[in-house]
Amino acid sequence: MLKLTNISKNFGGLQVLQDVNFTVPQGGIFGLIGPNGAGKTTVFNLVTGLLRASGGEIQFDGQDLGSVAPHKITKRGIARTFQNIRVFKEMTLLENVVVGMHDQMSYGFAGLLFNLGSYRRIEAKARDRALELLSWVRLDHKAEMLADSLSYGEQRKLEFARALATEPKLLLLDEPVAGMNPSEKTELMTEILNIKQRGYSIFMIEHDMRFVMGLCDRIAVLNFGRIIAEGTPDQIKNNPEVIEAYLGKEEME
Ligand SMILES: Nc1ncnc2c1ncn2[C@@H]1O[C@H](COP(=O)(O)OP(=O)(O)O)[C@@H](O)[C@H]1O
Ligand SMILES: [Mg+2]
Repeated sequence: MLKLTNISKNFGGLQVLQDVNFTVPQGGIFGLIGPNGAGKTTVFNLVTGLLRASGGEIQFDGQDLGSVAPHKITKRGIARTFQNIRVFKEMTLLENVVVGMHDQMSYGFAGLLFNLGSYRRIEAKARDRALELLSWVRLDHKAEMLADSLSYGEQRKLEFARALATEPKLLLLDEPVAGMNPSEKTELMTEILNIKQRGYSIFMIEHDMRFVMGLCDRIAVLNFGRIIAEGTPDQIKNNPEVIEAYLGKEEME
């Protein structure tokens, strides 16, 4: 579904990705793991068109994404969440999801429209779909509340609903459980599995080894900008190079 071929990325003299190759298959959950600074978020930024690769090719459903603008990549069916939560705290949950439907606009511009009040009357169809998406993450009962009133874990779930509002085929999640306590993590794991069962393909970056091992069908491991292993969770767990890369790191315990 999503294929990276010989991808490299430099920032000035800094080579962040080197010769990265992997394919995210349709259906299921694909995980990209690796230590901090390995280049994981950079992969998402390349796939979503926020950054351009220094070399190599990215294909989605057989089509090259190399020079496609970010909003057109969204239209082709790729949505993402960010490592740092980005919700509009002064808007209701419902409004946040409707903004997702208008993701073609920049976040700043969409936010401005909302603040001007011109979107306060949300059309019925958009509202129904937004409520449905909120119900998928079990937040529909809070639809009219301000996002500011949500817990950290709930804000993550709101982000999922907003990303799904662009009607993607592939959902990219950047460290969805970062900063969460164990019970929030378990709950979010259930939500991610629910989204998968609805037929979405998921490509997830995660730092928490235990979390990805339990969730992913396949995993690629990035270390210092290179893919050092790819396979099923069991293959990854038992790969000597992966153990080496994580040796002494808390995530491996
Ligand atoms: N826009 C950028 N400009 C310069 N350096 C960057 C940029 N984005 C990321 N980097 C650098 O690239 C490396 C990998 O970053 P990142 O992809 O965020 O890693 P990860 O998500 O695996 O923690 C880091 O050294 C980071 O400082
Ligand atoms: Mg990152």
